[in-house]
Amino acid sequence: MKSKLFALTILVLIPLVFLAIGPLNLTAGQGKNSYQVQDNGIGPIKSVAIGKTLNKKMVGEGESIFYSRCSKCHGLNSTKAAPPLAGVTKVVSPVFIMNYLLNTAQMQQKDPYIRQVMQYYQSFPKMPPQNLSKSQARTVLEFLRSTAK
Ligand code: HEC
Repeated sequence: MKSKLFALTILVLIPLVFLAIGPLNLTAGQGKNSYQVQDNGIGPIKSVAIGKTLNKKMVGEGESIFYSRCSKCHGLNSTKAAPPLAGVTKVVSPVFIMNYLLNTAQMQQKDPYIRQVMQYYQSFPKMPPQNLSKSQARTVLEFLRSTAK
């Protein structure tokens, strides 16, 4: 009788312990790197210097590039022919975004996360290479940062 009770207690306790540890693990993982996708992409960029506050001049330049070259496919909050981009800087890292903008075709072939996104948006044509310079891509990144809440 006692051993049955013991076995029962253990059976109930195990899932409870997992329930308690699960969320803790998640926060620990996010603490290491605040981006949801742990992937720096493939391309020429190894690191990006990011200021504590937004660089307003870069935001302005990136905004005009966004509205002249990206917004025909991308909304900020609505889905047009591509993923909405407000908040994308919380999902993928600055290095990832820069590499994707500068090396789009190769990442579409080889990067597992971009391949997932393409799968999701397969009813639309894939993103064409954007022919941005590094400094243009950096200003677009700063504009995208300004759209994240
Ligand atoms: C012709 C349409 C089109 C244009 C123009 C375009 N994109 Fe895209 N973009 C897409 C599609 C479709 C995807 C989905 C993945 C793919 O096809 O590679 C995408 C994916 C992305 C992603 C990854 C989103 C995610 O959820 O991880 C980013 C970032 C991005 N685009 C930024 C830009 C920027 C910045 C510009 C302008 C310089 C731009 N795109 C121009 C169609 C476009």
